[in-house]
Amino acid sequence: MGFRKDFLWGGATAANQYEGGYLSDGKGLSTLDAITGGSHTKPRMITFKTKEGEIKSITRESPLPEGAVGYIDPNIYYPSHVATDFYNHYKEDIALFAQMGFKCFRLSTSWSRIVPNGMYDVNEKGLEFYDNVFDECLKYGIEPIVTINHFDIPMYLADHYDGWANREVIDFFVFFCETIFNRYKDKVKYWMTFNEINFLRSWTQIGIHSNDESVKAQSWLHMFVASAKVVQLGHKINENFKIGMMIAYIPTYALTCKPQDNLDNVLHMHDTYFFMDVQCKGKYPNYKLKEYERKGIKLDICENDLEEIAKGTVDYIGYSYYMSSVWTTDKDVEVTGGNQVNTYKNPYLEVSDWGWGIDALGLRYSLNEIYDRYGLPVFIVENGFGAVDKVEEDGSINDDYRIDYFRKHIQAMKDAVEIDGVDLIGYTPWGCIDIVSAGTGEMKKRYGFIYVDMDDQGNGSLKRSKKKSFNWYKKVIESNGEDLD
Ligand code: BG6
Repeated sequence: MGFRKDFLWGGATAANQYEGGYLSDGKGLSTLDAITGGSHTKPRMITFKTKEGEIKSITRESPLPEGAVGYIDPNIYYPSHVATDFYNHYKEDIALFAQMGFKCFRLSTSWSRIVPNGMYDVNEKGLEFYDNVFDECLKYGIEPIVTINHFDIPMYLADHYDGWANREVIDFFVFFCETIFNRYKDKVKYWMTFNEINFLRSWTQIGIHSNDESVKAQSWLHMFVASAKVVQLGHKINENFKIGMMIAYIPTYALTCKPQDNLDNVLHMHDTYFFMDVQCKGKYPNYKLKEYERKGIKLDICENDLEEIAKGTVDYIGYSYYMSSVWTTDKDVEVTGGNQVNTYKNPYLEVSDWGWGIDALGLRYSLNEIYDRYGLPVFIVENGFGAVDKVEEDGSINDDYRIDYFRKHIQAMKDAVEIDGVDLIGYTPWGCIDIVSAGTGEMKKRYGFIYVDMDDQGNGSLKRSKKKSFNWYKKVIESNGEDLD
């Protein structure tokens, strides 16, 4: 009973939200280096230069005009530039993770740190950085879990190739992966190709200059082919590699038992399952092909694309789970916040300060849905509670709300394993140490067990301190999830 003996307890982060060192030791610019901070009510902005040379900014969901290139304004604060400075604190941070008893640590590699312009010139210093990080993890028996690409692309590829809209980017990505697979083949076993592939749709994420549905569909095809090639390549380089996909899973419940609400909910969830169907089953699902046909979207499919996709299915499913939501045909329903997208409010759920519906049972629900549908091992690679933490006069941070969130979610996960028999291999809570929020660019929205002294304007000593949840999670890991008190 309970979690498997080798259950991978740990925590998760991403390069652009954590590392900082945005130009250190030869790193190239990434699209995310050109997006400003924001807040709950103020969107993050992309700063760019038009092809006529004008400096402008635009909300990060908007398409950049054709020919525009990312631009860093020296007078603006960009959160990714320093973030919480893992680049210079990795030893201290990994030592703290080890103290908590982490069995694994999820991080992402920065493409533009290793291949600065995204093409074929490798930055040895960038490779060395991750060598040092992995060695430090392994010193403590912590298994590195690597997301190869988390939400960005080298700016050069966005500026000069229109990002993933361009088929040539497949080869650039495969080269990047081959480089890191060969370099780290004896240090890293678990990989994921793209973080939350179902959210990738804008310039900052995939470098495209358009909002057109056909352009996005074609870019996803390129990413599917790239991912499938990389899965096959990785297995050739080391047959023990486990290479997964990664998705943001926000289950929606039909708001009422009206048949139309339920049908619409199924159709709505297709938008999420599409990415899993392709990467787990190795082919485009019929519902998507029909949708493309209706919309007049014609994919430019090359000779081996579908064959590659069929051969390169993943070994496991990684997914993020933070919240659930509801779906209905009734458009007169209260809207609340959500991960990357606003959602309809579920009247039965409390929401976080950022409006995300808190639903521990939804985690068990999602584990069942996903495992039943694909039968592959599942890894919850993100889960957590973004909240404002208060530092007391004595320096303590009493984040009971976070403990409460985790307790309920871990219990739900345990039930999915013990009662439902889901093959769950690990759990890495998001932002195990405070990092910049992806959605809002804030530091104020914190997820960590470890506090980092840094604010939304980039002021702070970057000093690390343990929150109350630090020792709580340590106990959870020590007891392999049995002691949740
Ligand atoms: C996930 C992303 O969607 O949610 C992370 O993979 C992100 O990058 C996390 O940080 C939490 O979202 P936010 O907006 O609260 O940082």
